[in-house]
Amino acid sequence: MGHLTAVVLAGGRGTRLRPLTDKLAKPMLPVLNRPFLEYTLLALAHAGVERTFLALGYQPDPIIEHFGIGENVGMHLEYYIEDEPLGTSGAVRSLLPELDETFLVLNGDVTTQMDYKTMIDRHVENREYGTIAVHQVEDPSAYGLVVTDGEGFVTQFIEKPKGPNFKSDLINSGVYVLEPEILRFVPEGFSMFETDLFPKVLVSGVQLNTHKWSGYFNDMGTTENYLTLHKDLLNGQAPYVASASPLKGLNTQVDPSAKLEGSIILGDEARIEANVKLVGPLSLGAGCIVRQNSVLESSVLWDNVDVGPGSTVKNSVIGADVSLDANSSISDEILVSNS
Ligand code: GDD
Ligand code: MG
Repeated sequence: MGHLTAVVLAGGRGTRLRPLTDKLAKPMLPVLNRPFLEYTLLALAHAGVERTFLALGYQPDPIIEHFGIGENVGMHLEYYIEDEPLGTSGAVRSLLPELDETFLVLNGDVTTQMDYKTMIDRHVENREYGTIAVHQVEDPSAYGLVVTDGEGFVTQFIEKPKGPNFKSDLINSGVYVLEPEILRFVPEGFSMFETDLFPKVLVSGVQLNTHKWSGYFNDMGTTENYLTLHKDLLNGQAPYVASASPLKGLNTQVDPSAKLEGSIILGDEARIEANVKLVGPLSLGAGCIVRQNSVLESSVLWDNVDVGPGSTVKNSVIGADVSLDANSSISDEILVSNS
């Protein structure tokens, strides 16, 4: 195979992450102070991907400005912006003129520990039209359920299945290896892999294979999963970042009376005042100020958050530039700045 190409689907509105996605597209949400998409692209580059098309829709400009032609992620990037959402397969269908050999498709919000290279090699060796990465979960209801036969070929695909009894415990991991021809199963315009293309392929009798893998998986498309991803990364349960405790950015100031426990990331120029207690997993963005006597635990603070003295913050996400009054008590909340 020549150049390995990927398409990353990153055009969704990020509805389940509101209000965090009110101004930022989901792929740009900070994860340990880096845009989430950066981890995805580095993982693809590591798997040998040399060229990635980013299929964008909502708030594309900051993504393009940040990633440019891919100089910092080790591959060549190209951008396609939809005026109107084309859906998951519709977005890839519109790239058909650019795709002339086996390629990889990735949902732009998943973190997986899978080995993309092995999946691609198997797909090519077996001359498949399409291979869907699948893994086991306890509750498949938030995902696409994949039912397979004894040899691993897909017999049914049920998006967001309703319980309590499920036909399979395998879900679509949001990673596909495809041949360009398979896109012709849907016409140009809006279509979804999950509810249009895959069902059509199956009815036609063309086989779709699965690549079953096990290991870490997270779809950061909900506020709950977004917070969980941070905790897992900081606790060393997720790939990409070894847990380090505590990790400090440049020019951080931590008062000697402050207590830091567990796995913590402090962004550049963060300031931790007297008698503050920080309990990991905790991620603080650049320029955050935690004023005297505050206690922060299991939370994510974006850049320039100012935590008033005597406050407690637990299990919450606080967006950039938010200032909390003195003695605030924040638990299980998602806060963003109104300005
Ligand atoms: N370009 C473009 N255009 N991208 C889109 C569009 C679109 O119209 N619609 C959605 N996307 C992108 C989203 O930005 C996201 O990265 C990806 O496609 C998947 O969309 P989600 O909205 O996150 O889907 P989901 O999480 O409910 O379910 C999907 O992912 C699961 C795995 O996490 C499905 O593929 C499920 O079958 C799968 O199990
Ligand atoms: Mg998702």
